Parts: sequence; structure tokens; C-alpha cells
Amino acid sequence: MRVVTTKAELQQLLKIEKKQQKTIGFVPTMGYLHEGHLALVKHACQENDIVVMSIFVNPLQFGPKEDFDAYPRNQKRDEQLAADAEVDYLFVPSVEEMYPYPLSIKLSVEQRVNVLCGNNRPGHFDGVATVLTKLFHIIMPDRAYFGRKDAQQLAVVDGLIQDLDFPIKLVGVETVREADGLAKSSRNVYLTDTERKEAAVLYKSLKQAEKAILEGERKPAQIIHLVKNCLNKHTNAQVEYVEIYQYPTLKEAASLHGMILIAIAVRFKKARLIDNLILEIP
Ligand code: PAF
Repeated sequence: MRVVTTKAELQQLLKIEKKQQKTIGFVPTMGYLHEGHLALVKHACQENDIVVMSIFVNPLQFGPKEDFDAYPRNQKRDEQLAADAEVDYLFVPSVEEMYPYPLSIKLSVEQRVNVLCGNNRPGHFDGVATVLTKLFHIIMPDRAYFGRKDAQQLAVVDGLIQDLDFPIKLVGVETVREADGLAKSSRNVYLTDTERKEAAVLYKSLKQAEKAILEGERKPAQIIHLVKNCLNKHTNAQVEYVEIYQYPTLKEAASLHGMILIAIAVRFKKARLIDNLILEIP
């Protein structure tokens, strides 16, 4: 694996790979790698000749109350994990390399943002869209890999790729789960033993919703009610939201058909957890 810190060097190296008709899979991250990221790399390795991973904590996507400096970082450990996962190029630019001067263009994401977690993070997805646009232009990958765990980000990136005509195939990779269904997350370590057991209910409540839909329920309000009941009955977490949207447009679903997203966010004492299911309903 080669660690690259400048745009120019990465573009030069990838030009050579592309001349040899190699396909490029891209896994963008903010580092502090976990199994979710490694699952993205695994998919990327299976489907491409070359895998590029970026590690860049993007200041543009942090709000004024979110601490950019406190975001966890461990480059040495990340380098080892990326190398073990068979990443070919690890792109680790500095903030100055990515944003050498104040931007003269502002990207503003107009759709798919004012719902779910985006509701409380104004401007967040503008920052995500800006950095991804830059990374897509620098790397020009054939495929880009994102986790389905952050379904809203996946929907926004889908919009970005469509709207700006990036010739990139977006691949949404299934959420990696513990044996009891809890979605893997670096935040799970903040759960107490009791909360950890309760946290498995998030996925169970989503599976109950899926079962009810398979059995014929088509009213979003009924499904939301069922999921909330399950969470309130079996956990002490504070339910932040249970929402259902068409996917990937994230528009309200009057009745359940086509691709739909059921998304939940709950707050335990020291950990806020999210989970979701994307279902195709005939
Ligand atoms: O999901 C993330 O880690 C970030 O939002 C991303 C896609 C790397 C953009 O900074």
C-alpha cells in the first residue's frame, strides 16, 4: 500500500493505473477505521483492480457546535488496517492540501437533507457534497463505496452523482452487525451492559416492521407506531425519531410501495444510535 498526501501525486499515480485499463474503487472515510469501513474495502477489492481509500476529517461538514478538533484520529493504526485490508493507495491529505484557500464555489444540497439526522445538522451535507465532489474529481473512480448504515448520506451522494453527472457507480454496502443484530458502531462502547442488551431491540423492531409489511400492512403511520412501541417497551432509550420515506428521494411515503427507508435514532445515556432498513415493496 502506498500512502499519498498530495493531490498531484495521487493523480499522477492513478493516471498510470488508468492507462493500463485498471478499474478503480474508492472508499472515502474520515479515518478511525472500523469493521464497517473494512467491509466497504472488501467489496471494493472484489469489484475493482485498484482500491483507493481516503482519510480526511473534513472541516466543512462540522457544525459550529460539533467539535472538529475532538474527532478521533489514529493514523498509524488506520494505515495498518488499510494495508491489511489490501487498499492500494491511501490518500491522507492535510486540510491545507484540500482547501488551500477559501472556496469561491459553494455547493448547497437542496433535497434529501431536511429529514432524519439532517434536520439537526444544517449545512452538514453541503460540506459532505463539497469534499466528495473534490475527491471524485481527484480520483475519478469507477465505483464509490458507502455504508447503508448512513442511509441519508447514501441518498445525498446518489443525488450528487446524478445531478452533477459523475460517471461513477454508487455502491451501498449492507450494514455490518453483531450476532444479535446490533449495527456495529464505534459508539457501542459507550453503552452500559444493560443498554448493550437493549440496543439489540433496534434491529428487532425494524425486522418486526418488515414482517408486518410482508404480511400486508401498507400504512406508514401503523409501522411507525409498531416500531416506537417495540423500542419503548423493551428499552429505556429515548426515541429521537422513527421515520419512513421513499428511497432514495427521502420524500414522504403516503403508502408503502417501491423502495422505502425505515430509519430510527435513539439516545441512550452516553450513546446515540441509528439504524435502518431499506426495503423493496412490490
Ligand atoms: O461518512 C463519512 O465518513 C464522511 O461523511 C465522508 C463520506 C468521508 C465525507 O467526508
